[in-house]
Amino acid sequence: MEKGVILLGIESSCDDTSAAVSVDDKILANVTASQDIHSKYGGVVPELASRAHQKHIIPVVDAALKEAGVTADRLDAIAYTLGPGLLGSLLVGSSFAKSMAQALGIPAIPIHHMKAHVLAHFIDMGREKPTFPFICLTVSGGHTQLLRVDGFDEFTVLGETLDDAAGEAFDKAAKYLGLPYPGGPEIDRFAEGGDPDAHVFTKPKVDGYNFSFSGLKTGFVNYVDNQQRTDPQFPKNNLEDLAASLRKTIVDMLMDRLVQVAEDENISTIAIAGGVSANRGLRRRLNEVAEERDWKVFIPPLEYCTDNGAMIAIAGYYEFLMKRFGKITDAARARWKMESEA
Ligand code: KG4
Ligand code: ZN
Repeated sequence: MEKGVILLGIESSCDDTSAAVSVDDKILANVTASQDIHSKYGGVVPELASRAHQKHIIPVVDAALKEAGVTADRLDAIAYTLGPGLLGSLLVGSSFAKSMAQALGIPAIPIHHMKAHVLAHFIDMGREKPTFPFICLTVSGGHTQLLRVDGFDEFTVLGETLDDAAGEAFDKAAKYLGLPYPGGPEIDRFAEGGDPDAHVFTKPKVDGYNFSFSGLKTGFVNYVDNQQRTDPQFPKNNLEDLAASLRKTIVDMLMDRLVQVAEDENISTIAIAGGVSANRGLRRRLNEVAEERDWKVFIPPLEYCTDNGAMIAIAGYYEFLMKRFGKITDAARARWKMESEA
């Protein structure tokens, strides 16, 4: 018999259906069904995403419970992503989670997806956890934020993207190069064999700690078009160098701001979170800068970078400890700001 708080965490905000079972801060199972259907469209098709969630949700939850060796009647609560994300996708996970909790007579706990990405660092992985306050660079397909984190629910947004997210920049550039969705991992893979200084892309100038990636994307597209005029084989004959140069540019943009924020806030505990934190270029640079600046850095293991149920379970665990439960009337939210926004 497991002792402790047993939770089921359900994530369905975009194109991954994921469920995890946790006991306190330990993850017993984390099962994800990804949706390949979007790859040929070059991006997530919301209508197809919600249909696929509908198909996956019960098998994924069953598989997580089975792998954890936990029966549903042992659950203390069900945590689920209430937002932000694609509304149709959120509706599947949130309706399912609330109904299951209602049937079992246990609380349902609504979770903010981006906070959960950050709180993934508090999963027991047999290693040190970050201490407050810390700075978190949260980079995903929908968000790019610099957060100051002072507690389990004390988040201050110090900077964010004014247009596209970093993951979106990777995905759009990859699409233009004819690579499948999601393009981030594709660019990362090609970049490993390329010269990061082969091409130079202009970085948009942005005030404060904010970012802008849509200008970079336009610059990239124009650059590729211009090269193609003199070399018809371009970009096919140059994917590795292009990917390496683009990755370097995006990583530079992220790291410049991160260094600036860390200095100004006088904080040397630094974390990264979200799908783009799986990027090998970013992970390496962060470790290098940490060495130079004597930072303590927290980089999530790959399975907790992209969307996963485990991060929802751990975020739910801290809500559970604070006795903050949801209501049956809580409605999925496509947009949802971080509460303690600056
Ligand atoms: O956090 P996530 O799974 O979903 C959202 O909440 O958006 O992030 C997905 C994003 C996609 O844009 C994907 O291309 C990007 O993370 N991504 C990467 C890598 N792995 C995933 N971007 C760059 N390099 C990677 N290795
Ligand atoms: Zn995410």
